[in-house]
Amino acid sequence: METNLTVNNPVKSFVKMNSQCAQVFEELNIDFCCGGETSLFSACEEKGLEPEQVYQRLMKLPSGEATSEIDVSGLAPAELIEHIESTHHIYLKQALPRLVGLMDKVHQVHSSRHPELIRLKTVLGKLREDLELHLLKEEQVLFPLLRKLDSNSLDLKMRVVQGPIRVMRNEHDEAGELLKEIRELTNSYVPPKDGCQSFQLLYKELRQLEEDTHLHIYKENNLLFPTLQSAVSV
Ligand SMILES: [Fe+2]
Ligand SMILES: [Fe+2]
Repeated sequence: METNLTVNNPVKSFVKMNSQCAQVFEELNIDFCCGGETSLFSACEEKGLEPEQVYQRLMKLPSGEATSEIDVSGLAPAELIEHIESTHHIYLKQALPRLVGLMDKVHQVHSSRHPELIRLKTVLGKLREDLELHLLKEEQVLFPLLRKLDSNSLDLKMRVVQGPIRVMRNEHDEAGELLKEIRELTNSYVPPKDGCQSFQLLYKELRQLEEDTHLHIYKENNLLFPTLQSAVSV
């Protein structure tokens, strides 16, 4: 990670620069939220940690952004499935538990002044539950079926894949509705003026979740499913 930051900069500056620093701070029990103004040096000393060691660990973190985009339009179905699993599914499996943990923390501290967080917590919890189950269905039921179809090892009839694909499309719509509600509740991801570092991080990560999930759903609904539906016999 390239940066001008030193151990004398406030803890919150590190999280602002790379959201993955938050996970390291959580693990080390360094408060990057309401105590975010403290320098990294002082925060480490307070916890009996060696500041330089912590600093070096932060510098080794990869970029904290969600999955980067590549051109997938020419991929064969099996390759596209591989791409979806290795980018969007992995991203969700890592991001959803992290987001729910962060949500709990922000809710606990700020919901008295920001009651919208109560509904936001419920909606995010529901989205996590739905998406985790959805990933499981794709990875264990639909994708193995589609892989067999793609390699011509299975003579599938349209009705065999049509049912699961219809279910997946419906679940995509439901996830889209929940994301829409999250956007409304967060004022399009603009944190309040009194929002602390955790609050800002939560909104930033929710925006990434929306971006990545929209792309993910687009690829399944518009690239993967139509190719396969046209390839199977009626
Ligand atoms: Fe998926
Ligand atoms: Fe999906």
